[in-house]
Amino acid sequence: PIPLLIDTDTAADDCFALLVGLLDPRADLLAITMVAGNVGFDQQVDNAFLTVGLAGRLGEVPVHLGARDPLVRPWLSASDVHGDGVGGLKRPDDGHAPSDEDAVDAMIRLAKEHKGELSIVAIGPLTNIALAVQKDPEFVANVGSLYVMGGSINARGNITPAAEYNIYVDPEAADIVFSAGFADVVVISWDPLTITDAVFDQERIDRIAALDTTLSRFFVRANQATFDFDSRVGIGGSSHCDSLTALLALDRSLATAESRYRLEVETEGTRTRGATVFDWQSDDNNVTAIEKVDGERFFDYMLTLLGTEPAA
Ligand code: BDR
Ligand code: CA
Repeated sequence: PIPLLIDTDTAADDCFALLVGLLDPRADLLAITMVAGNVGFDQQVDNAFLTVGLAGRLGEVPVHLGARDPLVRPWLSASDVHGDGVGGLKRPDDGHAPSDEDAVDAMIRLAKEHKGELSIVAIGPLTNIALAVQKDPEFVANVGSLYVMGGSINARGNITPAAEYNIYVDPEAADIVFSAGFADVVVISWDPLTITDAVFDQERIDRIAALDTTLSRFFVRANQATFDFDSRVGIGGSSHCDSLTALLALDRSLATAESRYRLEVETEGTRTRGATVFDWQSDDNNVTAIEKVDGERFFDYMLTLLGTEPAA
């Protein structure tokens, strides 16, 4: 199995990225690290524990707490899109607590222990990853692959017209991460190309609901707020770019088109803060951007995943 770490701002689709890591036998999920993002930090931690519990893996995969704020800017909520991120479900009194080890330290340690092998799946703002880059000069060389959900190749954002949330919230962190020199950075961006393949319309949601498992009910409920929001803004269903990113870390053959780019982040712009500039003419490429995926295969995978009943 692939040694995996998921860095997450757990709400809605992040929960299902965690389930990919927790339940897919191709993954050896070593840690979940929490970063400030979509909804309040403590709510996100509860959402992560709720998800680990539903996967029947409490006590097996540690949850580490990381940055509660972006590097230099104030935190920005996206609760208007996600609600509480789990559709009002409450974490049961499971008796489990986060690890005493800080998220950034855990990340640094695991990269060292699995030198050249660890895949990090980053599906929130890049604050923790940037802090690890700054703290350990060997971190970058130790990481095998870094999968980032963020940015927009066609300059089509979600939090602003020009910027995608994960990058917009902490553009300085994103700048540090993309300039750091990681050997293998794979970007799954918020673009028509990528999100179209990861959008679940009402018919797909109905097929998931019909599975009538604990996980399928969780899926419908936790993604209802994003479904409503994304439908209102014309996306036609809920988008599942985080779970897609986790799955790509286990199976790159899901990508049917990808290109190398030099990716730079706009940290200053008045209208374009957090925009990702993908230079297709550079001789100094730093990322591979996924441009098309097999959306049917992704949906079928999620149907199978959500159709299982993990032992509690
Ligand atoms: C990102 O923010 C959230 O909506 C998703 O979890 C994803 O990580 C998309 O902008
Ligand atoms: Ca996320």
